[in-house]
Amino acid sequence: MHLSSCENTLFREKNPNHTFNQVIAHIDNSEWKPDALIVTGDISNDGTKITYDRAYKKIKELRLPALCIPGNHDDRKNLIKHLPSEFSDTLLVIKNFILIGLDSTVKSSSEGLLSSDELEKMQYILQENTSKNVIICLHHQPVIIDSDWIDKIGLKNKNDFFKIIKEYDHIRGIFFGHIHQNYFINHNNIRMYGTPSTCRQFMPKEKNFKMDTRPPAYRRIELFEDGTIKSEVVWLDDK
Ligand SMILES: [Fe+2]
Repeated sequence: MHLSSCENTLFREKNPNHTFNQVIAHIDNSEWKPDALIVTGDISNDGTKITYDRAYKKIKELRLPALCIPGNHDDRKNLIKHLPSEFSDTLLVIKNFILIGLDSTVKSSSEGLLSSDELEKMQYILQENTSKNVIICLHHQPVIIDSDWIDKIGLKNKNDFFKIIKEYDHIRGIFFGHIHQNYFINHNNIRMYGTPSTCRQFMPKEKNFKMDTRPPAYRRIELFEDGTIKSEVVWLDDK
């Protein structure tokens, strides 16, 4: 999303406020009716209260519960402080699925790291919910996506993360933001997805930073009783 306190501030030559509103309108006007929304971070580009208030007010128009987790551009305190009561930054339950939100941000850094507290929280929720299907959401990608510049600012302690993941067989999916592109890999029967931004996209598989010309997008996720996940990216024509 990358919203700024001034509604006219651009994010890489595009108005993030405008494209975010377009995405929300697309979801709202679509025949596909979701049960919840996941926001995988970088809601605000400047961490200001005004951006969270504006973002949450807009999301509330969908009348859905939402899991909102911080990204490297967010101010975690402000993100949580202004969350509406029906939103969470930690947990969302949808039928027999439990969605865990993790904070992978590091103060004043673009890199990601899961603190021991966040890893313990994840482990605790996993232990307590073995009868449910689990989805884990975090901002930073916990995998190498073959794009040098962004791989350098992904999740640093991937090994600590996967050491815990490996102990459980009820984790069905991992969803992340940060990479501004569509990504999917099936890793030991866990489906891992990166989602394009509601604003500007980054070119996949580039050694150095490069913008993509693809339009704003969001991801639809379908969850099935048996733990199956189906998902597709919806690209908006923003011409
Ligand atoms: Fe990010």
